[in-house]
Amino acid sequence: MKKVYLETYGCQMNVSDSERVATQLVSNGFEIVAEQTDADVVLLNTCSVREKAEQKLYTRVGQIRAAAPPPPVNSKTGGAPLIGVMGCVAQLEGESIFARRAAASSGNNNGGIDFIVGTKAVGRIISTIEKALDGRRNFVDLGKRDDDYEWTVSPAQRQSPHVAFVPIIEGCNKFCTYCIVPFSRGREKSLPAAEILREVELLKNQNVREVHLIGQNVNSYRPSSDAGLESFRGATAFSRLLRAVAVTGIERVKFTTSFPRDFHPDIVDAIDEHENLCNWVHLPVQSGSNEVLKAMRRGHTIESYLEKIDKINSSHKDIAVSSDIIVGFPGETDKNFKDTLKMAEYCRFDSAYIFKYSPRLETPAARMENQISESVKTERFLELEKIVRKSQEAALKKHLGATLEVLAERVSSKNIDELSGHTTCHKIVNFKATGVLPGSVVPVRITAAKTNTLYGEAIG
Ligand code: SAH
Ligand code: SF4
Ligand code: F3S
Repeated sequence: MKKVYLETYGCQMNVSDSERVATQLVSNGFEIVAEQTDADVVLLNTCSVREKAEQKLYTRVGQIRAAAPPPPVNSKTGGAPLIGVMGCVAQLEGESIFARRAAASSGNNNGGIDFIVGTKAVGRIISTIEKALDGRRNFVDLGKRDDDYEWTVSPAQRQSPHVAFVPIIEGCNKFCTYCIVPFSRGREKSLPAAEILREVELLKNQNVREVHLIGQNVNSYRPSSDAGLESFRGATAFSRLLRAVAVTGIERVKFTTSFPRDFHPDIVDAIDEHENLCNWVHLPVQSGSNEVLKAMRRGHTIESYLEKIDKINSSHKDIAVSSDIIVGFPGETDKNFKDTLKMAEYCRFDSAYIFKYSPRLETPAARMENQISESVKTERFLELEKIVRKSQEAALKKHLGATLEVLAERVSSKNIDELSGHTTCHKIVNFKATGVLPGSVVPVRITAAKTNTLYGEAIG
């Protein structure tokens, strides 16, 4: 039985693709192993959203090859693993990955990478691996998704038996000027609502407690037919889908990522109406300056964003808001950056990822004048981080003494006597519990709050 080691970088879309690749591998007689050194084939599922993420591929290939040098030419695998590249770097760079890696490693003609599988070609991974195991080298598949692509993940291959990712839309049409994703993931394509609902029912029957509807922009969801949504009202197809998923009765529904321009207030109304639509929204603002937002081509102004924040805050549910912010976008002035600080003070995010702008090849922003120096990016990062950290801390501390419902997902990695899970507002909680089995939702009294985590004790 051939052994495969699979390593995943990037967003939930990559995690979800990896789960489906693992499902296919196991049902075709491969074994998934936990150590790269035990593997006949190593698959790297890559991300290229920032330069550092992309660089990771080349560093990892170097490390893997150093642990097991490639076999002499003509030997089939000869003890060293075959390496295949999947994901966004594979899709964007295709064949040129062989040359790039070869230049970096000097020597091997394939530079230590054996095959490349694009983001839509993952359904053909088995035949690609088989070709490589048969001795074929430098095989590249950047082709289209198969019509009969199987979206279902086997329970054993999910990151957690209790939480499942359900893709509802893939790709992105927005072309924000800094972003590579529309090039690596292609145009938006919504999955049929009836299929999504069938999948959620299936997951519920498998005892999954929480589903995450995922997509680069979930609220741009626009299926080609109404099937499955007929009896659900709503201002947009996405808010109708939310209501339909809620009615399946699955314990918890979360969704990510929401695109601010398409964030209709009716989404908040749906969350208000249904207990199982969770109180967490991830709404990446990117900047607090209208000048910068315009140059980013985000399609929203800061005023329209803040209106959405106000609507979310008007809910009776205490909805947590998280965000992404880019500092050092080309041309960002001190005044523009001050507007971002002001925005962060106003929004008091429960959490926010801050990124230094990273130029991506072929994107319009990479060619803009007035690129910002690394030192200014770092200064701005640190200044913004202070504000974000303050609101993050406050968002955790406000729960001290309260009792929150936590889905017990696993034994805590920090302390084997504790369980770890998430609240409905997507905060991590590590807690003491006796007789609680992973997979149950339990009331936990919160006793401490540290950096990114709440601590507590299960009640009863
Ligand atoms: N579709 C989501 C974001 C997907 S990418 C949205 O539009 O909100 C995740 C995050 O990476 C983005 O929100 C952005 O903050 C960051 N990002 C994307 N491209 C980047 C770049 N070139 N440099 C720095 N950060 C970037
Ligand atoms: Fe990138 Fe913008 Fe699409 Fe998000 S919406 S994936 S930031 S292009
Ligand atoms: Fe990265 Fe691709 Fe996701 S670039 S963020 S893995 S869509």
